[in-house]
Amino acid sequence: MSPCRVYIETYGCQMNEYDSSMIASMLTGAGYTLATGPEGADVVIVNTCSVRERAEVRVLGRLRHLRGLAPPDAVIGAVGCVAQRMGEDLFASVRGLDFVVGTDRYALLPDVIERARSGNATAEIEVDPDENYASRTTPSSAGLRDFVSVMRGCNNFCSYCIVPYVRGRERSLPADLVIGEVRALVDLGMRDVTLLGQNVNSYDDNGLDFAGLLERIDCVGGLERIRFATSHPKDLSPRLIRAVADLDKVCEHVHLPVQSGSNDVLGRMNRRYTREHYMDLIAMLRDAVPDAAITTDIIAGFPGEAHGQFEETLSLMREVRFDSAFMFRYSVREGTRAAEFDDDVPEHEKIRRLEEIIALQQSITTEINTGLVGSSVEVLVEGPSQRDPSRLFGRTRTGKAVVLTRAGRSTDDLEPPPGRLAGAVVTEASAWTLHARLRAGEKDLAGPSVGC
Ligand code: SAH
Ligand code: SF4
Ligand code: F3S
Repeated sequence: MSPCRVYIETYGCQMNEYDSSMIASMLTGAGYTLATGPEGADVVIVNTCSVRERAEVRVLGRLRHLRGLAPPDAVIGAVGCVAQRMGEDLFASVRGLDFVVGTDRYALLPDVIERARSGNATAEIEVDPDENYASRTTPSSAGLRDFVSVMRGCNNFCSYCIVPYVRGRERSLPADLVIGEVRALVDLGMRDVTLLGQNVNSYDDNGLDFAGLLERIDCVGGLERIRFATSHPKDLSPRLIRAVADLDKVCEHVHLPVQSGSNDVLGRMNRRYTREHYMDLIAMLRDAVPDAAITTDIIAGFPGEAHGQFEETLSLMREVRFDSAFMFRYSVREGTRAAEFDDDVPEHEKIRRLEEIIALQQSITTEINTGLVGSSVEVLVEGPSQRDPSRLFGRTRTGKAVVLTRAGRSTDDLEPPPGRLAGAVVTEASAWTLHARLRAGEKDLAGPSVGC
């Protein structure tokens, strides 16, 4: 019998991307092969996101559409955050759906798929506060940049957020396991790792904190760069800031979601910090790591956000000058505390505020990037640029996308292979991309890093 082909489609955040690759390596370990599209698949899995209503509506539509695209005898299932939130109700929303598996139940997938293939539709959404997938199989493939989960779940209950309800309580993965996984990915070609957790600052492996974990990962030979997401401002520690400043591989990039510039709004959001505390953190970070890129998340039109409070968000953005931001309009999530507040900012006003925030951020990003013209950057080369294959694409330590032109002569020996660090000078910039020229004779800044 030919092996069962599984197609996985992923929505939502980096956690879901990570989980999908974990599911892929678990299923390939169980004898499945991966399909590149739904048409030729025997099993279709959609990893879903529930963070905003639109994300959820989109994913339900996609599930219905995929049911039509996949062969009639293929089984189709939902996993992830919508699966966890809706459970069996998903069968009524998506006709022809064969299985539903929640965020703590992925180890059951081979079994659930087998049951679905023999005609038994099941939902497995029981919460398991101890499931950290410690016994997952080792990764079978890696990109140059990849994710490794160091924590699952969230204890913070920001009043607008569904994540704690669909991902359960915080649990840290043992450091040895994380390091083993980083090593395995490096062996498969990864050079740049992003360590994931909803709030990495509360990482705790029997007393080893997140800064301690960074110190250990900094020792992995062959790895060039370490990033992490996300840091909650209420407990970003001076020790972690020092780790960003001192550890060679830890990149000068901190994602620190602020959500709002108004103390009233932050209070109603249950963020448990003030604008003043946030600004103190920015000052500490800039003092310790002067060239750090700082990025953020912002919500426009939270319940009760008066116009003056919205303007406080704009003024905070002007003061901090974020390198970039993910910006959203508030979306009511049933079951959260904010769902009980009066959602009183009209939709058109939320959209207007969001557009103003996006325009301001775009002008700040353009100014920051333009200010880099003429400066030297270290680029991790990823390969030919998709838009223009005669050029190379890569990223700076601060996470900015760079399109590289060669240093004058277009000989192959000037071209660093994917996975190498190259020195380049920025020649042009927009809000989205830096253009840079490889520095002649300096195609590799250094050989691969060694371990300690
Ligand atoms: N753990 C991370 C964020 C995870 S969710 C943190 O605390 O920063 C990613 C982002 O989605 C949040 O930072 C927030 O800006 C946004 N978000 C979450 N719930 C939302 C909602 N109900 N409406 C609009 N945006 C929301
Ligand atoms: Fe959601 Fe807040 Fe947890 Fe982030 S810290 S996942 S915003 S509850
Ligand atoms: Fe991520 Fe969306 Fe779930 S943001 S944690 S996939 S609700």
